[in-house]
Amino acid sequence: METVITEDIKVAAAFIRKGGVVAFPTETVYGLGANAFDAAAVAKIFAAKGRPADNPLIVHVTNREKGKGAREEVAVLADGLNANAEKLIAEFFPGPLTLVLKRAKGVPDIVTAGLETVGIRMPRLELAQMFLRECGVPVAAPSANISGRPSPTTWQTVRDDLGGRIDCILKGNVTEIGLESTVVDCTGEIPLVLRHGAVTLEMLRSVIPETADAADIQTEKPRSPGQKHKHYSPKALVKVVETSGEFEPLENAAFIGLSGPTGNFELKKIAADVNEYAAALFEFFRECDRRNIAVIYCESVAEKGIGKAVMDRIRRAGS
Ligand code: TXA
Ligand code: MG
Repeated sequence: METVITEDIKVAAAFIRKGGVVAFPTETVYGLGANAFDAAAVAKIFAAKGRPADNPLIVHVTNREKGKGAREEVAVLADGLNANAEKLIAEFFPGPLTLVLKRAKGVPDIVTAGLETVGIRMPRLELAQMFLRECGVPVAAPSANISGRPSPTTWQTVRDDLGGRIDCILKGNVTEIGLESTVVDCTGEIPLVLRHGAVTLEMLRSVIPETADAADIQTEKPRSPGQKHKHYSPKALVKVVETSGEFEPLENAAFIGLSGPTGNFELKKIAADVNEYAAALFEFFRECDRRNIAVIYCESVAEKGIGKAVMDRIRRAGS
């Protein structure tokens, strides 16, 4: 299949309306989208990524008129909105937050992997909003990578993974945040964070103080199906290090972090702050793969703010 690469949202959206699959940028990572109400189109996403069928997709919406009506768009996909959902939508939509809500009847099983809930997000990137508005339908989209690999933060990386397997790539800039959205289950009494991201636990608690981290709560089954699958894995071995002390790296090694160790590294990325670290992480993993790096040392950061999401991704990459 020929993959059309375009900057034209009209060209990209036309593929969605015809039942095709299109990669598009958001402020978090690039997504691979299809019309959420077209089960056959959504099936093509799973095929292109090699994604396990039991891992549900996030449905992306936008407001039909700029700056207006976030909750109306969400309400189409959800079976009612409780007070917590209303608060989080009012505060964080559009933005890097996905809410898991009871699904409306019309949402196809393939989107939710048969669950009675659906993940919904309204990206804040202007290009994503313009694209979604042009599509005119909610767009189901996981990250636009081959399943198990790091999420793509550039259109070139999408092309490397999925070129020839999808209809179109909507070309945008490098993504601003670089880590996937925060996922919050809003179906219970208190909001539960299933995946950490740029909308931090602290930010959520400033709106709903009871918000809990699912990792701190005992349950028999994983709350987010995606959490049991392998993720973010570069080919190299990933090691977490504290770099307040110097260390002797193994051969053919790379380093990413906030402070620069001495020692012999093939590749080094010293980020100015934790936001820059987050933004650079996945593309750094990709670059290490391209250069056949054997071991990647990732400096640990404090587990506060977006640091929690950074540590979560690094640990998963290493496990
Ligand atoms: O930033 C993002 O969230 C990006 C952009 C494209 O929006 N998307 C993304 O999608 O990262 P994906 O499919 O790679 O990750 C979605 C995560 C998975 O861990 C999935 O299991 C979880 O959200 N999820 C989706 N629907 C869910 C549901 N109904 N209940 C629980 N978890 C859900
Ligand atoms: Mg993903």
